[in-house]
Amino acid sequence: MALDTRPIGVFDSGLGGLTAVRALCRLLPGEDVVYFGDTGRVPYGSRSRETIVKYARQDVAFLRTFDLKAIVIACGTVSTTALDVLAAENPIPVLGVVGPAARAAARLTRSGRIGLIGTQTSVRSGAYERAIHALNPAAQVTAQPCPLFVPLVESGRFRPGDIVIETVAAEYLEPLRAAGVDTLVLGCTHYPLLEEVIAACMGPEVRLVNTGAEAALAAADYLRAHGALSGRAEGGSCRFFVSDRQEDFACLASTFLGRDVTEAVGQVDIGQY
Ligand code: DGL
Repeated sequence: MALDTRPIGVFDSGLGGLTAVRALCRLLPGEDVVYFGDTGRVPYGSRSRETIVKYARQDVAFLRTFDLKAIVIACGTVSTTALDVLAAENPIPVLGVVGPAARAAARLTRSGRIGLIGTQTSVRSGAYERAIHALNPAAQVTAQPCPLFVPLVESGRFRPGDIVIETVAAEYLEPLRAAGVDTLVLGCTHYPLLEEVIAACMGPEVRLVNTGAEAALAAADYLRAHGALSGRAEGGSCRFFVSDRQEDFACLASTFLGRDVTEAVGQVDIGQY
């Protein structure tokens, strides 16, 4: 079988895509990954479609300065808004998070009552609902935008015991609790960083779908099915680029990934792309 040692590109508006990187590195430890987090322009989730498409094109143009074998859009907002555009414009596979998350939700739900939380743009797009209904037309989807979650996560306010995030989460999640959902799609890749806070609000019976991790699983399956893995069992590298201060990102990324990545983080002027 052909081997492909080129890196996988992954991007997000900021830290959230690290939920996909963490899963990807565990699933495929022999793959090289190049990550871009647009920390200078986060959040994307309250912006217009035009702006999101423009930013996403620049993010991809930067990543493609590396010779990549595939790109994972580890961002719910870009996946719900610009996946078609990016897939049509690029000669390498461009994979998003919506399909993998919808498949997981349809598989996990028992009652058919599925909750969805995401950015305003993702919820407004209806993309997750369409993907879930394509798999389970009888599913009842209750959707709730959570616009404060991304800025709070980017500020490092994601740990249990943090009164600010716990107060905001309790308010946002109340309609989903009232709807009696048994499965909750964390439709923004930042939200798995809030997994403990969200799980404490929703209770132990509600299954949480980690969109970043599901996207990584789907990407691994895709590469395997297309004979595009590196053939290495371990030793893959991860490089990270951000569009604003690398120190803050390096610190939070090191905590989240459980290893010091400071030396692997660089800064880029994304406006050039
Ligand atoms: N991680 C992005 C997402 O999945 C956050 C979007 C934002 O920057 O608002 O939607």
